[in-house]
Amino acid sequence: MSLEPLKQMALLGALGSSITISSAEFAQYLKTSPQTASRKLQILEQENMITRKMLPSGQEITITEQGILALQKEYHEYQQIFGDYEEMRLSGVVCTGLGEGRYYITLEGYLRQFEQKLGFTPYPGTLNIELNPYSINLRRRLEIMNDIHIEGFEDGVRTFGSAKCFKVTIDDTGGAIVIPNRKHYPDNILEIIAPVNLRERLNVSDGCEVEVVLCRT
Ligand code: CDP
Repeated sequence: MSLEPLKQMALLGALGSSITISSAEFAQYLKTSPQTASRKLQILEQENMITRKMLPSGQEITITEQGILALQKEYHEYQQIFGDYEEMRLSGVVCTGLGEGRYYITLEGYLRQFEQKLGFTPYPGTLNIELNPYSINLRRRLEIMNDIHIEGFEDGVRTFGSAKCFKVTIDDTGGAIVIPNRKHYPDNILEIIAPVNLRERLNVSDGCEVEVVLCRT
């Protein structure tokens, strides 16, 4: 499927909020007939790329999360083609996790690998960030990107899963995102490890906005 109609929608402002437009008007942007424009809108709706509400003045259109992902995938592919790696920034608010971060980070089997592969000894714990909707999509992209691989291990009693890391900075403080390679992990949460206690270093508490910048590799 061509992403052109979806891209035009995004350029008209249907990404993040809705726009109201008639098929005839949209046809002008696509340089096609109103019939063709109308059909393309139908297809986008069937493929769950947009949602539509029929109004007397036209149709109210919003690009869905799936539509945003499709556009972002295209965008990242062009970045790969032209080697233009724009900084990736994820943002959200600090939140409290289940208190498990400290336990996992300090396990010898992980700790040794963090030291070797990231070059620092992590403060015992993870800073949890609840991501905003755009960043949730970026996080999904991370799952298929190159990474620093942390191997799983066994301690004789149970198995500990593998994970991937991405080096980041938050307000000029270095650290890394840790993403466990297991299914059913909430994708709106980002876990950060760093050589220092980030709450203290950044002077943040639950609800404070933070931005994580991915380091170019
Ligand atoms: O309870 P939670 O799962 O959020 O915490 P944890 O992973 O056990 O980490 C202990 C505390 O240190 C939490 O308040 C984290 O937010 C914080 N932390 C930090 O500020 N900087 C780090 N580099 C790691 C953890």
